[in-house]
Amino acid sequence: MNNLHGGDLLSLADLNADELHDLLTLAAKLKYGDLRPRCDGKVLGLLFYKASTRTRVSFSVAMCQLGGQVIDLNPSTTQVGRGEPISDTARVLERYLDILAIRTFAQQDIATFADYADIPIINALTDVYHPCQILADLLTVRECFGKLNGLTLTFLGDGNNVAHSLLLGCALTGVNIRVATPPEFKPDDAIVARARQLATDSTIAIVDDAKAAVEGAHVLYTDVWASMGQEDSAVDRLPVFQPYQLNSGLVQLAAPEAIVLHCLPAHREEEITTEVIEGKQSRVWDQAENRMHAQKALIASLLGLVV
Ligand code: CP
Ligand code: NVA
Repeated sequence: MNNLHGGDLLSLADLNADELHDLLTLAAKLKYGDLRPRCDGKVLGLLFYKASTRTRVSFSVAMCQLGGQVIDLNPSTTQVGRGEPISDTARVLERYLDILAIRTFAQQDIATFADYADIPIINALTDVYHPCQILADLLTVRECFGKLNGLTLTFLGDGNNVAHSLLLGCALTGVNIRVATPPEFKPDDAIVARARQLATDSTIAIVDDAKAAVEGAHVLYTDVWASMGQEDSAVDRLPVFQPYQLNSGLVQLAAPEAIVLHCLPAHREEEITTEVIEGKQSRVWDQAENRMHAQKALIASLLGLVV
């Protein structure tokens, strides 16, 4: 098994296909109790500049179950919130912590932490990527279908951080991905190009026709239309995104065995209807649970607890 000892996870492009596969396999083993690695005495820092329920709690519980401790570094009560440079903060925190997960706005800020801190840095969401989410998503899809390679996943809505990480994650695992967005909200061209470089065995389609995008798909995925930091434009976005709402009409066009995913939190009757998120094809609660198993595997791998 590949382990990522001493590395960082800033984006899924930090992993190769084998490393990602091994991480998912490790997550499944941890979930079903086949392995019980320990990291007694190790400390995970959580530095979150944006709200979080799932990521914060799943990281905390994962670290507790591994025997380690968690310190919540609230930016509003630490000096980073008063403008202490990241380069200084990072060099101090690496002296105390064993591993650090950061949720912030700019991807560059996470990269700066990684440059200055010689401990594993985990991207717990930026404006550009959400790699930990996609680890859990791929674990969920693999549990449901017994494989990843050859499946088709359709993402509907905003070409956002979740869409970007899905593009990379699907490319690395042989999942065909279709991203359907309004023309002005497409994913970043450079990230799509990177995903195309990584994809050896699968297709990537960026389209604006939601109906065509869901036809025959195995996984239907959506996320909020206005991400954290974009709240001011949320009302203006509603009519633009309405054709991309994940509703029962679209679900009927997918494969009969299709599953529905949403990273949560969800806005019911906006990007997804109550009928669909509460429906029999929804796997969102398993998906949320898998955040914990996937991140436990990530921590164990980055700390070198498994060989
Ligand atoms: N999906 C996700 O990252 O949820 P939180 O914002 O609650 O962490
Ligand atoms: N795209 C969303 C994901 C939240 C988990 C956001 O960035 O707010």
